[in-house]
Order: sequence, then C-alpha cells, then structure tokens
Amino acid sequence: MMDNQLSALLSRCREGLVAVGLLSTAVNLLMLTVPIYMLQVYDRVIPGSSVETLVYLTILAAGALAAMAVLDVLRSRIMVRIGVWIDRMLSPTLFERGIENTLRGVSYQTDALRDLATLRSYLGAVGIMALFDAPWMPIYLVLIFVLHPTLGLFATVGAIVLIALAVANHMLTSGRLNRANMTSAYGYRNAEMAFRNAEVIEAMGMTPALTRRWGELNADILQLQEEVSDTSGLINAWTKSLRLFLQVGVLGLGAWLVLRHELTAGGIIAASIIMSRALAPVEQAIGSWRITTNARDAWKRLTELLQLPPLYPPAMPFPRPSGALVVHGVNYAPSGRAVLRDISFSLEPGEALGIVGPSAAGKSTLARLIIGLAKPQSGSIRLDGADVFAWNRDNFGINIGYLPQKVELLSGTVRDNIARMEGGNSSDVVAAAMGAGVHDMIMRLPSSYDTEIGEFGHMLSGGQRQRIGLARAIYRRPAFVVLDEPNANLDVEGEAALKRTIAELKECGSIVVVITHRPMLMTEFDKILALRNGRAAFFGPSKTLLAHVKRRKALASASMSPSPA
Ligand SMILES: Nc1ncnc2c1ncn2[C@@H]1O[C@H](COP(=O)(O)OP(=O)(O)OP(=O)(O)O)[C@@H](O)[C@H]1O
Ligand SMILES: [Mg+2]
Repeated sequence: MMDNQLSALLSRCREGLVAVGLLSTAVNLLMLTVPIYMLQVYDRVIPGSSVETLVYLTILAAGALAAMAVLDVLRSRIMVRIGVWIDRMLSPTLFERGIENTLRGVSYQTDALRDLATLRSYLGAVGIMALFDAPWMPIYLVLIFVLHPTLGLFATVGAIVLIALAVANHMLTSGRLNRANMTSAYGYRNAEMAFRNAEVIEAMGMTPALTRRWGELNADILQLQEEVSDTSGLINAWTKSLRLFLQVGVLGLGAWLVLRHELTAGGIIAASIIMSRALAPVEQAIGSWRITTNARDAWKRLTELLQLPPLYPPAMPFPRPSGALVVHGVNYAPSGRAVLRDISFSLEPGEALGIVGPSAAGKSTLARLIIGLAKPQSGSIRLDGADVFAWNRDNFGINIGYLPQKVELLSGTVRDNIARMEGGNSSDVVAAAMGAGVHDMIMRLPSSYDTEIGEFGHMLSGGQRQRIGLARAIYRRPAFVVLDEPNANLDVEGEAALKRTIAELKECGSIVVVITHRPMLMTEFDKILALRNGRAAFFGPSKTLLAHVKRRKALASASMSPSPA
C-alpha cells in the first residue's frame, strides 16, 4: 500500500497502540481470575472446608477484578484519544481537500469529513477492542487443552464454526452494505440541494414530486438495509445459539469426563468460563460488524482521497505582480468537449478588458482559467511572467479579486465577508464597501458591518449580496481583478460606483477584466474581447470595436432606409 497521511498518522500513534496492546495483555490475564477462583473453590475450599482460604481468595479475586476495570478504562481512554488526535490532525487537510474536490467536480467533500468522524468514533468504540483481544483466543484454547485435550478439541471446533459464521456474514452483507451507504450518501446530498432550493420548490408546487423522488430513493436504501439486517439477524441468532450450545457441550462433556475420573468439578467450570472468554472476541466482532465495515470503507475512501495528487502544484510565494497578463493559444476542453479554442490576448498593468458574448460563449470559463482555478489543455496564461495555475494561493490570494457570476457569501459578518474572513482593518473594509457602492446600505443594516449574514446570506437582497461580493473582490485593491457580470443586479447608482472603482483600480496599475452584457461600462474598457462559441470573434482596442459597430449600424440603417424614388 502506498504511504499516505492516514497510515503515517496511525504509525505515529505506535506507542499508544503498543500501550493498548500491553494493557490488553494485562486485562486478558486478569480475565482468568474467575476460572482460577472457581477451580480453587471447587477443588480446594470445598473439600478442605476452609472458610479462611475462601475469604482470602475472595478478597484476592475482588482486587484483581478492580484492577482489570482500571486497566480496561485506561486502554479505552487511550484509544479514544488516538481517534481524537487523528481527527484533529487530519480534518484541516480534509477541509482543504474538500475544496479541491469541489473544483475538480468531485462530490466527496462533506462525506469525507463524515468518514473521518466514523473512523474516530470507531477507534474509540468497544468493537475495536475485539481486535486486541483476538490474539488471546488461541492461548485460551491451549489452556482448555491443558485442562483436558477432549475439551480443547471441542472448543477449537466450536471456535472455527463461529469464525466461519462471521466470515459468511461478511461475505453475504458487505457488498449490499456498501451499496446502501453509497445510495444514502447520494440521497442526503440530493435532499440538501432540495432544502436549499425550498422557495423555488414550494412556490411552484414541486414538493410532492420531490417528496416522491426522495421516497423512491429512500425505498432503495431501506430495501438494501432490510436485506443486510435480515442476513445479519439470521447469522447473529444462530451464532448466539451456537455459543450457548458450546457452553452446554463443554459442561456435558466435562461432566462425562468427571464421571470417568479424568477431570475435577472445578475443571468443568473453569473450562466453561475460559471458553466463553476465548469466544467473546468472535462474538463481539460479529456484533460490531457493521460499524467495523463502515469504518473500513471510510478508511479506504479517505486513503484514496489523501493519495490524490494535490490539485495545485507546490508553489513558491510570489510578490505582488506588476507585469502584464499574457494569454497565449489557450484551448480548454473539460470532459472532452472544447469550451475554449485558441484564445490569445494580453493586457498591460492599468488596462481594463471587457469580455462580451452570448450565453454559453465561454466567458465565465475564461474568467476561471485566467485566475488559475482550472488548467487549460494547451496554451499558457501568465501574469507578470508566472503561470497563474502555479500560484501559491495562501500568499497570492490577496493580489486577486474575483467576483463569480453566482455570488455566494459565507456565514459570518458583513465585515468578515468583505475582509475575506481574515478580520481585516476597518478602513480597508470601508474603502472596499464604498468602492462597491454598498457602504450606505451596510450602515442601514441592524449592526452595520457587524451584522451576521446568516447561512446562505438570506438576510440580504440579491443586489446587496452582489455588492458585498464586489467589495470582497476589490478589498485592498488587488493587482488583478476579474469580475463576472458585476452589474447584473446593480441599479444606476451601483453601476456608477462600479465605474469609478474600475477607474481607480486602473489608476493604481491593476489589471481589470470584466464580463458584462450591458453597454454602460464600455467607456471604461481599454480593450474588448468578444467571444462566440469558445472562439475570440474580436480582440482589440474598444475604440476600434465601437467604431466598427457604429459603422455597421450606419450601414444597416442606410440599407434599410427607403431608396429614393
Ligand atoms: N467543467 C465543465 N465541463 C463541461 N462543460 C463545461 C464546463 N465548464 C463550462 N462548460 C461549458 O462551457 C460552456 C460555456 O460556459 P460559460 O459558463 O463559460 O458560459 P458564459 O459565456 O459565461 O455564459 P453566460 O453568459 O450564460 O454566463 C457551457 O456550454 C458549459 O456547459
Ligand atoms: Mg457566465
């Protein structure tokens, strides 16, 4: 198996696991207290009728059992701490990987965090102790052999049958259990999306249809769960009866041996108790089969996730860029279909580019590419000489301003959102808000900049959200700003503020790229890129395009005007 962070973490817990192993040894030795006590009582105390020995033995047994409890508590506490430690070490990585997976278009994100929780609780649960107790099984069986070979043989055959039942349980259920878990994860993701779109669903009476779909999906899950539970239930019931029968068998066989004077009465009881100890891990393993399987599957999925190469190559921190943006021969075809073809253009610092074009022309896709959120199949995109995909985001993000087409704010205050969740200083936050023309609006909110946005930003109107998103994009005047339809929800006043902001950014030497359908901003653009079907239909100075459009309009109106008779 390839080395990964998860197994590396587990191997760093080696000392703890060794300690649990040693404690398990002690616990298992102390488990012999009761059979030894029995042997002594039956074979020594009763024949010798010594009360003193009985009292003495009882005190000793009580002490041993108390010690066992203490050690048992200790080992389970160590395991709980190992689980918590692994969770603490891994969850930040998983959070980052979740964000990467979203960019990759893979839906394993929240489920990864959930899988980590599954693993953590499994490490701290009783079920896992079966693993530490299992190595004692052969030793217990040997002890029974020592008491009498026939009993030993009987117990060994019994143990093998129990293990066979456990294996059968696994083979019959694990496939369906896995499918049930995957289906239910898919179902929950669907339900989450529906809950988020509650307004649309309710307004247009889609609830019954969606409820029906959920019911169908849930029925599949329930069907699988039912089958798994039926099989497990069958095997568990037979396991339980078999264990009881083994108990009966040992007592019966022991009695027969006593009659033949090959065993003492104490021996019967001792053999019976030792056997139940020997079989306990098997029964425990069967009982906790489901959580063990879940934990194992979670482990597998997490390992796969952690073995993925990071989305971004390791990068050096770059200084604030001060050079040109150069896009050269970019082709982009996610999932095989060409979305962008042979795009080339360049922008100098202080220049603003307007990207125009019909729906699905590839404008938003190009915006994502030039800030390095995705990698083109061929061609290069460089800002100040450095490949945009190779930026170290942690250092570089402050130099980038990005307003996506669909603005989503994060839970936190207005200030947090504008300051990119960093706290930030007030004057920068206010300057950004003013630039986005949203300062006055924020001041009218219940606690102005400290107003909690609430999950999904429901407290705010669409325009307010977009303006706060815009303020976040221009916070601290980044060197490179990409705005995807920033004025889609803006009123006249908001558009005027946006225009001023673009002018200011240009003055500070920022490169500004704006996607827009509306002509209002055209005067601020130095260059225009018109996209059509993923190709550049036009790239050049905006003046040229405007002149071209004017000429065409003039031509069109000339050709439409009635010819002089
Ligand atoms: N990751 C992807 N996988 C497959 N197709 C994609 C992917 N990203 C974008 N596309 C496709 O590329 C095309 C362009 O999408 P894009 O969002 O860039 O359009 P747009 O010009 O911004 O349109 P609009 O004006 O409606 O926002 C669409 O047909 C879209 O389906
Ligand atoms: Mg778009």
